Amino acid sequence: MRALITGAGGLLGHALARHLAERGDRVYGTFRHPPDHWPFGQVVPLELGAAPGLQGMADQALAVAEPDIVFHLAALTNVAECEAEPHAAWSTNVGGTAHMASATRCAGSRFVYMSTDSVFDGRSGNYGEEHSPSPINWYGCTKVRAEEIAQAADPGAVIVRGTFYGLHPDGHGTLAGMLNALRAGRRLRLSPDAYFSPLPAPVLAQRLVHLGQSGLSGIRHLPGPHCSRWAFGMAVAQHFGLDPALVQQGSPVAVATAAVRPVDTSLITHHPGPWPVGELPDHLATLTAAGPPPGEAPAPGTE
Ligand SMILES: NC(=O)c1ccc[n+]([C@@H]2O[C@H](COP(=O)([O-])OP(=O)(O)OC[C@H]3O[C@@H](n4cnc5c(N)ncnc54)[C@H](OP(=O)(O)O)[C@@H]3O)[C@@H](O)[C@H]2O)c1
Repeated sequence: MRALITGAGGLLGHALARHLAERGDRVYGTFRHPPDHWPFGQVVPLELGAAPGLQGMADQALAVAEPDIVFHLAALTNVAECEAEPHAAWSTNVGGTAHMASATRCAGSRFVYMSTDSVFDGRSGNYGEEHSPSPINWYGCTKVRAEEIAQAADPGAVIVRGTFYGLHPDGHGTLAGMLNALRAGRRLRLSPDAYFSPLPAPVLAQRLVHLGQSGLSGIRHLPGPHCSRWAFGMAVAQHFGLDPALVQQGSPVAVATAAVRPVDTSLITHHPGPWPVGELPDHLATLTAAGPPPGEAPAPGTE
């Protein structure tokens, strides 16, 4: 299979590229700032925020990769930054998706769009595919509009909602931040009343490929185990051999940021795939079991 991944340098993009390369697929990854070396395939430059010439760049990426599937992951993902820079967030997340979806449709490729659990307001939790989106911050608004645009551009597209954690070679991401804090002996304050249902990025990557290769279309939720933010922190501390006493219970609204965040974004699905939801400790083990690929620095927590 030939696959084009937008945002291939991101947390999920890295895991997806690695998974596809390990399967023997031909992988093309888009980057704003192409790296000198990318171990998983061919690098394609793409800047989604640049409105003039963007359709040309998107068309060019499709022409180079000739993909069977486009996994559209690139987005402005920092929730506070989206609030502070609404135009940039809209042009990247909505405009960028519009151009990629239309280029993909013209090329006759399949389109898989990675959305988010943050399309919901977080008041009830356990959201299924039938729940109407109700975003409470700008990031969520851009992702909802992008979902609509992707579906309008290609009714055969798959729109995936979920959330994930992982370890990236450059050390970015929430999990790396938690590990850094715990290793430095700093306390984490996490809410026992804020819920989500995350998957490790490598597991989500496998499920994205399965959905991409299926004939399925429309909105699909890919939930992991239902857990509170505090329970997640405890599981992380235990898995990585760090002090669980540093993981303390805090309020869901204790984090001061520029953007409001939904409290309970846990998902369910009415279309379970051929896989179990899984348990948190087993999922955490998948992050360290594979080890780093050749030429890549060990991820934090794997030593
Ligand atoms: N992280 C989560 O917990 C989470 C949860 C639910 C859904 N999602 C969704 O999953 C997808 C992947 O998230 P992630 O956490 O892997 O993202 P990430 O690590 O923040 O990476 C985002 C990627 O998008 C690229 N990008 C950003 N702005 C761009 C632009 N203007 N033009 C071209 N590329 C641009 C970035 O390129 P550079 O490397 O050049 O900056 C990067 O490769 C996103 O669509 C996100 O909304 C994420």
